[in-house]
This record gives sequence, structure tokens and C-alpha cells, in this order.
Amino acid sequence: MAERQQDRQLDRLVDLLTKNATVVMSGTKLATQLGVSPSTLWEWIERLRSLGVEVRGLPGAGYQLKKVPDILTPQAVRRSLHRGQFGCQIYHFYETDSTMTEAERLAGKDAPHGTLVIAEEQTAGRGRFGRQWFSEPAVGIYFTLILRPRLAPSAASILTLLAGVALAEIIHEICQLPTDLRWPNDVLIREKKCAGILVEMTAEPERIAHILMGIGVNVNHPQMPKDLTAEATSLHQEAGRTFSRLEILSAVLKRLERYYLQCLEQGPAVIVHRFSEISSFARGKRVRITDGPRLLTGETAGLSPEGILLLRRDDGQTEMILGGQVRAE
Ligand code: BTN
Repeated sequence: MAERQQDRQLDRLVDLLTKNATVVMSGTKLATQLGVSPSTLWEWIERLRSLGVEVRGLPGAGYQLKKVPDILTPQAVRRSLHRGQFGCQIYHFYETDSTMTEAERLAGKDAPHGTLVIAEEQTAGRGRFGRQWFSEPAVGIYFTLILRPRLAPSAASILTLLAGVALAEIIHEICQLPTDLRWPNDVLIREKKCAGILVEMTAEPERIAHILMGIGVNVNHPQMPKDLTAEATSLHQEAGRTFSRLEILSAVLKRLERYYLQCLEQGPAVIVHRFSEISSFARGKRVRITDGPRLLTGETAGLSPEGILLLRRDDGQTEMILGGQVRAE
């Protein structure tokens, strides 16, 4: 579905309320500025409230923000970024099925390298192996970056590791939490997953047409759904406090871009090295790996120069792991 007109007007409403946070804004004036009726304005205010934006309604006087909202509007994200390529164009949805689907559509319409698609809520967020990605409204970070790297398709898998490194570093720096990386795409805190990465590529034999780098972070979820609690957690649950999604998002984007440029210039060694430093899974870990019907067990033996996981199997052979699901034994 296209980025809806109403989403942009909601963004404008958030922006107007934020810029005028110290005063009560007349409902009539707000409605006129947005070109809608007072009753539509009231519906939108209710919509924002459902996303955790605290707006005080003063009968006869108007509306006032109680605190600056943590909504990832394009205006707010743009203000928080330096002039880089990541986030050069920003699409923001209050609700969409998946930012991957939106990004695919935009990539097909020649959206430039660095285009960012963000959602407050995904109704069909997806992860690896066709799994769902739980996307509770306004408490997580859900985005997809469109990249057009001049890399051979075979070199693209380093981007998953690169995103993991950037996420693990930023979560550690901002939240002061101990992060771990489970090859290839999971960010863990105390053995539970707090963020995941989904990289999808459209390529011709020799060249990448585009890459979609999808990232989901469980930030302020008060708790995870029952069926996920054994495996997943949120930053809020682990730290016992709430974090600014905007601060985390913009720090992640800047770190992603820095590593991306470094990787293009110098090759994957920096990422492979940093991943191996952070990840307890990279070497000496007993693991089970399922890849379709195949089950492998053994001990991890480091990463290849391209970032492929090496497994010393129980039968003594060393195998290069190209995909599959890794779990600690
Ligand atoms: C995984 O760990 O399996 C990958 C999870 C990736 C989730 C993100 S949320 C934003 C983007 N949109 C999606 O539908 N998926 C990715």
C-alpha cells in the first residue's frame, strides 16, 4: 500500500504539537492548518494517543502535548541524522503490513540508495525462514533500508553481519546492556533475542540491483508475547527502563553507514573481526544447526574472511556454514 496521505498529515500534527509544546493549540486553528474538520482532528488525536502520545485536551481551549512524543516521523528522524546517504529519503507508516514489502515496491520505482522505510506498527512483519516478526505498535523499531551497493552478489552476505555489529554496538553504548551476536543475524542480551536482521537481495548474475536491509528491535515492549518469552526480550525488560527509539534509530543508521562505507572501501575484514570480538558464537561454542531437513552438531571454529561460519563437526570434519538456524546446545 502506498504511503498514505493521512500518515503525512498525522506526521504534520505531531510536528505542530511538538513545535508548540509549551502552549495550548486551538483545535480550530490546528484543524484549519491541517485542512481537516475538528472531528477528524479529534480522531487523529485519539489515534496518536493509542500510540502512546500524551496529548492533553482542554475543553474549549485546545490541545497540548504532555511530553515530546517518541514517534519516528520523517521530520524527527531527519533532524537527528547528519547529512549522510542513509535516510536521504524517508517513508514513514503508522501501520503497514511490512516495511520489506513497502521497500520492495519503492525499490522497483528507482528509490535511491539509502532510502529508509519506517513503520510504527507492522501487521505482517516477517523474519527469516518465513517466520513472523512481532511488531507491537510504537514500542519497537521496524525499518528497511534500500541499498544499491557496487558489490558482487556473492559478497552481499557480509551486510547481515555488518548490521549485527552496528546494532550490538549501539545497544551496548546507549542502553549499557551486554550484547551478543548469534551468527548470522540475531542480537542477543543474556541469551535472548532483542533484535533481528533480514537482508533480501535482488540481483543479476554479475551485479546487485538492490538490497533490502530490514531491522527490527524490541525496544520498549513491557513484555513479549507468551510464545516468545523463552527466546525473545526487549531492551526495556533487560534494563528496567524506557529508551528513546529516535535516539537508537538515528545512532544505528549512522553506525550502519559508517561501517558500510568502510566495508566498501576496505573489504569485509573489519566487520568479520568486530563480529568475532562481540559474538560468543563465533568460536568455541557447542551448537546445533538446522538447515532444512539437515541437523548438524559441533563446535564453532571462527569465521572465514568473508564471514562464513566454520563448524568443527562431531565427526571431526570442518564445514562452512552458509545458512540455517544456529542454536547453542
Ligand atoms: C529475523 O530475525 O528473523 C529477522 C527479523 C527482521 C524484522 C524486521 S522488522 C522491519 C523489517 N520488516 C519486516 O517485515 N521484517 C524486518
